[in-house]
Amino acid sequence: MRQWPSLLTVLLFLSPLIAGDVAEKPYNESEERYSSSTVGLLKLLELEMEFIKNLKSYTDLLSAKANTLQDFIDSVDRGTEKSLTEREKYVSNPLNAFGLMRRTHQDWPKWHNYINNTVGRDQLQSLDDILTKAPDSQDMKEALVGMQRIERTYGLQACDLAKGRLQDRQYDTQLSIRDCLALGQHKFQEGDYFRASLWYRMALKHEPEPNAETFNEILGDPLKDLKLNYAKATIIDGLIEELSPGNQSQKIQQVVDVTEEELHKSRAAELDGFVTYLLDQPDDDLAREMAEPALSSYEIGCRGLYPRRTNLVCRYNFTTTPFLRLAPLKMEEVNHDPYIVMYHEVLSENEIEEMKRRSSEMSNGWADMKEENSTKLRDIVCRHCFWSEQSAVRERINRRISDMTGFDFPLTENLQVANYGLGTHFKPHYDYTSDGYETPDVLTLGDRLGTIIFYASDVPQGGATVFPRSRVSILPRKGSSVFWFNLYDDGRPDTRSQHSVCPVIVGDRWTLTKWLHIVPQMFVMPCKPREKS
Ligand SMILES: *[C@@H]1O[C@H](CO)[C@@H](O)[C@H](O)[C@H]1NC(C)=O
Ligand SMILES: *[C@@H]1O[C@H](CO)[C@@H](O)[C@H](O)[C@H]1NC(C)=O
Ligand SMILES: *[C@@H]1O[C@H](CO)[C@@H](O)[C@H](O)[C@H]1NC(C)=O
Ligand SMILES: *[C@@H]1O[C@H](CO)[C@@H](O)[C@H](O)[C@H]1NC(C)=O
Ligand SMILES: *[C@@H]1O[C@H](CO)[C@@H](O)[C@H](O)[C@H]1NC(C)=O
Repeated sequence: MRQWPSLLTVLLFLSPLIAGDVAEKPYNESEERYSSSTVGLLKLLELEMEFIKNLKSYTDLLSAKANTLQDFIDSVDRGTEKSLTEREKYVSNPLNAFGLMRRTHQDWPKWHNYINNTVGRDQLQSLDDILTKAPDSQDMKEALVGMQRIERTYGLQACDLAKGRLQDRQYDTQLSIRDCLALGQHKFQEGDYFRASLWYRMALKHEPEPNAETFNEILGDPLKDLKLNYAKATIIDGLIEELSPGNQSQKIQQVVDVTEEELHKSRAAELDGFVTYLLDQPDDDLAREMAEPALSSYEIGCRGLYPRRTNLVCRYNFTTTPFLRLAPLKMEEVNHDPYIVMYHEVLSENEIEEMKRRSSEMSNGWADMKEENSTKLRDIVCRHCFWSEQSAVRERINRRISDMTGFDFPLTENLQVANYGLGTHFKPHYDYTSDGYETPDVLTLGDRLGTIIFYASDVPQGGATVFPRSRVSILPRKGSSVFWFNLYDDGRPDTRSQHSVCPVIVGDRWTLTKWLHIVPQMFVMPCKPREKS
């Protein structure tokens, strides 16, 4: 910043010009958001495929029409080079003269009619229909927030993400210049100027799109205002560090409001110089400059940085029910106190198939209760449903839960199925009635004494189940389950049971959850009394 004080002065003293907000359609919380589950994202991919299919048959018809017209042109084109003498000679021949007369009288209206007919009416209608299903601004926002979560929770850098590097893995997919720009703009609007500047930087450094000239006419030029916005984000980030909080917002607004037209009047060269100087800084230096706020225990868990545990064992559990003497379960102790265990190979491929088949009707799963009259947007955790249909497979899974936990409940009880999406997460929470969140069925079945989650997929990156207070982190493993208690034996809440789902980075995260309520357990409390603390 220090090298460019005069640019700052220019930005600060130009008169503001405030852009109007775009009106948005009213927000319906219950509507499906494509980005909140992989099921939704698959639907969006299919929608895009349908769009392209229609576009293909539309362009086929367009080029057929163009070819037909070209044939017509070829059949009558006499060339423009011919001299007046040649043209006179042509019309002096009666055969030519008559042909000219007939063609222009009889054929022209028909050709005009042909030209005037809209090509691919059906395809255009289908495209209109498809467009009504396109993601709206809320959907886009959800996706931007998901990306932001991945970036922040795992401390990922724009320069890595833009080039397809997620943590320590390189993917052969990259973000486009318009993707980088959209991520930068979102962060700018959110007031995260440092990260905004990094995304603008990636957009500026991006090689130009193929067909940029023709695409820009339709989509707009991504480079428009980009240098200015990059400079603004960098300067504001500097201002935040240099100014006292009381003086920040007004000065920030002054910088935000400067337009390119205003700047061009005076200092375009200075802007270019500043941006060139910034772009010359190595990416790594900027990344190092980013002062990360102290990490929460949840974030530490998500990054896999809890200390490794020792003195835990894996064994076969024969004891919970008589059935287990015949078919013992592979049990792994995850934590002694509070007691957290995993069971392996307890959900089969067929059971997972059936679970998905019976989950076609899903709804948004929320992290918070809806506050009356509140217009605040709630975090969507996932898409979920209750497997409420009678099924032999569901009973079999319920019996297995009973075998694993020693708990009693009707084998016909529902199971919850959940599917996560783009950067979706579940913030730290309790499964018992707390923080004003009244769990369903609490009045009839009592509070949720224990929870068991089955992982119905592997998640290559992210998506761990983390217990921030107990510093336990569990990576989803297809076919495994994790079980823990939420209450002490006397029914008091055990705050150490607080848990969360880390944002999925890469993967199709499916889970099956069962809450074990206290009332049905009156006569079958766990074998080992649990300590009260
Ligand atoms: C909101 O969306 C849900 C689910 O798509 C739909 O059933 C409901 O009718 C919608 N409500 C309004 C007010 O549009
Ligand atoms: C051209 O097409 C439009 C509708 O597509 C129609 O209203 C108009 O009459 C047509 N013009 C001629 C000269 O046929
Ligand atoms: C704002 O800045 C002025 C000097 O430019 C200073 O006198 C004043 O104390 C500052 N206000 C706050 C709230 O920091
Ligand atoms: C919500 O709005 C309704 C109608 O406007 C009002 O009667 C009610 O008191 C409000 N509730 C709260 C919690 O503000
Ligand atoms: C088997 O699992 C149950 C329930 O998790 C537990 O109470 C019991 O102690 C386990 N038995 C052994 C031998 O680990």
